[in-house]
Amino acid sequence: MSGEGDAPAVETLTPLDAAAELERLAGEIARHDAAYHQNDAPLISDAEYDQLRRRNDALEAAFPELVRDDSPSKRVGAPVRDGFGKVTHARPMLSLGNAFSDEDVADFLDRVRRFLNLGDDEAVETVAEPKIDGLSLSIRYEGRALKYAATRGDGTVGEDVTANVRTIADVPGTLPAGAPDILEVRGEVYMSRDDFARLNAAQEEAGAKVFANPRNAAAGSLRQLDTGVTASRPLRFFGYAWGEVSEPLGATVAEARRRFAEWGFQLNEPSAVCGSLGALLEYYADISGRRAELPYDIDGIVYKVNRLDWQDRLGFVSRAPRWAIAHKFPAEKAETRLNEITIQVGRTGTLTPVANLEPVTVGGVVVSRATLHNEDEIKRKDVREGDAVIVQRAGDVIPQVVEAVAAKRPADSKPFVFPEVCPECGSLAVREADEAARRCTGGLICPAQAVERLKHFVSRNAFDIEGLGGKHIEAFWADGLIKMPADIFRLGGQRDAIAEREGWGEKSIDNLLAALDERADIELPRFIFALGIRQVGQATARLLAKHYGSLGAWTEAMAEAQDRDGEAYATLVDIDGIGPGVAEDVLAFFAEAHNREVVDDLAGLVRVAAFEIADTSGSPVAGKTVVFTGTLETMGRSEAKARAEELGAKVSGSVSKKTDMVIAGPGAGSKLKKAEELGVSVLTEAEWSALIGRG
Ligand code: IVH
Repeated sequence: MSGEGDAPAVETLTPLDAAAELERLAGEIARHDAAYHQNDAPLISDAEYDQLRRRNDALEAAFPELVRDDSPSKRVGAPVRDGFGKVTHARPMLSLGNAFSDEDVADFLDRVRRFLNLGDDEAVETVAEPKIDGLSLSIRYEGRALKYAATRGDGTVGEDVTANVRTIADVPGTLPAGAPDILEVRGEVYMSRDDFARLNAAQEEAGAKVFANPRNAAAGSLRQLDTGVTASRPLRFFGYAWGEVSEPLGATVAEARRRFAEWGFQLNEPSAVCGSLGALLEYYADISGRRAELPYDIDGIVYKVNRLDWQDRLGFVSRAPRWAIAHKFPAEKAETRLNEITIQVGRTGTLTPVANLEPVTVGGVVVSRATLHNEDEIKRKDVREGDAVIVQRAGDVIPQVVEAVAAKRPADSKPFVFPEVCPECGSLAVREADEAARRCTGGLICPAQAVERLKHFVSRNAFDIEGLGGKHIEAFWADGLIKMPADIFRLGGQRDAIAEREGWGEKSIDNLLAALDERADIELPRFIFALGIRQVGQATARLLAKHYGSLGAWTEAMAEAQDRDGEAYATLVDIDGIGPGVAEDVLAFFAEAHNREVVDDLAGLVRVAAFEIADTSGSPVAGKTVVFTGTLETMGRSEAKARAEELGAKVSGSVSKKTDMVIAGPGAGSKLKKAEELGVSVLTEAEWSALIGRG
């Protein structure tokens, strides 16, 4: 493990860097969890482990949209212990998008409104309820009897904790008559603050493990191999959502909640049905003011569109529902001294200033480093070495320097001078006109960049090469065995050189080469993600893979899309979830000859499987390229697009010979004209709805 203490400050990371790092951390922390919990053989000190977790928390707070389903922050301990069976959730267990400001909440309501194509006078009724800081759980009932209960796990597969859940008094073993035949109740296992305090006191007295907070205590108590231990712990459960159900639970969230209560579940109250943004924000203010009075920890408020038919239409995007959002509580603050400003270099060469602080407790966590974002931020805030500074943790986790306390500034203090050369490799560090970050121009000659890129390449959600961890990459890189990604797949020719290294016997080399051989067959989304293109995280890689289908088609399209006026470019920026910003980063990557070489070189050494699209063989529009134009009357543009894509169609923004059909509403102009010229078939919205079975 490389020391997280040397990692670049979170705030100046690009989403790509952050995604890669979160992914690496998820893998690394999972490994340490397994070592600690399953094998009782920790590989690192608790302090080092905490540092990894804090880094992960900080990244998640700064990039809430990148929080992974397998995030360490969503679990405590190993994902699936030996001893716990696995359960594949009938419906995936999703996460929530975050809102940090009133504007974010307003945007959420606007998005809902636009998606549903609602009139200005139509209210979006929304349920507001406390967001409990616990551990999510899915409990399945069949024939009204508890069949099994599972933790969230990675969202798709969780741990079977049925025996333990049966010991929780709040969880009914059987449901009363009238409950659906199949019902998956989802909610949160938690511990009240009082119970937590009592448990910790007892643990301390017994010389046993003391928990950091109620959430850790709840998670640790639920995930006990000895059910007797779980039974002795004061666990509770709130039901607030559901997975598979054999019949609708009602027309609204409020109704479903009432039924949950009738069936014997506890609800996270107080909740409120709000008719406007103002009402939501009032509820938020009220609860945040009473936060300390609630018997359990909450970390925000969840808003959910009340109408379930609307929820169905809104659906999901990247594993979070469009119909709900979590409005997080703001940061906690503290004052301390800034001892030194150091500079760190990220995988894409970003120079990030970091404040090294006199350790201070902020919201229960000791903070000794905080981000200073970038050069301009330091200037704007005029933060200097030696200053007294205010530090905060946003979303309750990330440390950042808010401001310097001017009145306490030492007389001899001097403004900080940002370096113009990379502290890692001495190359010039430049700033593009439109960028906040200064970047090292060293590229692959800069050890910070080269090694981090290679580490990303082999990381768990990329090539996932077993036996080739960060340490090995660093060592192989230093020895010149690996310079470029493709070199990894040429290690077979370097047996002797590897064998000279300490710790590498014939057997471990065999294992490594076998792992490489196995990973030479790779799925397209992983391949794209592994390239480490800025802003292309897993979700974006998947979108690209899904749209283009094969490596060849994608690279060819990216070459064509260099022409910003052409159709390939229009198609790229029109992929739902890929905006012009991401498109520019992808195209910039392909504009560089050395990057194309990396891809070509790799393509000759590995086999990239074409993307398999979900079975839409029954769909009348599978594989068809469609274009929407003009005003759509029964649905918003994004909903129309999402539906079409679900049915296997490709939605394009421009009409060409390749277009199969154009759905034209009132006001359609040039695209309709072009379709008619090219003889592409044109459908009305009603005809389209009939075709896809929504008529
Ligand atoms: S609704 C489709 N409601 O927060 C997602 N989640 O940050 C359904 N959580 O994974 C979740 N309180 O474990 C919902 N009142 C609440 C919640 C809540 C806590 C958790 C849940 C979820 C996580 C997302």
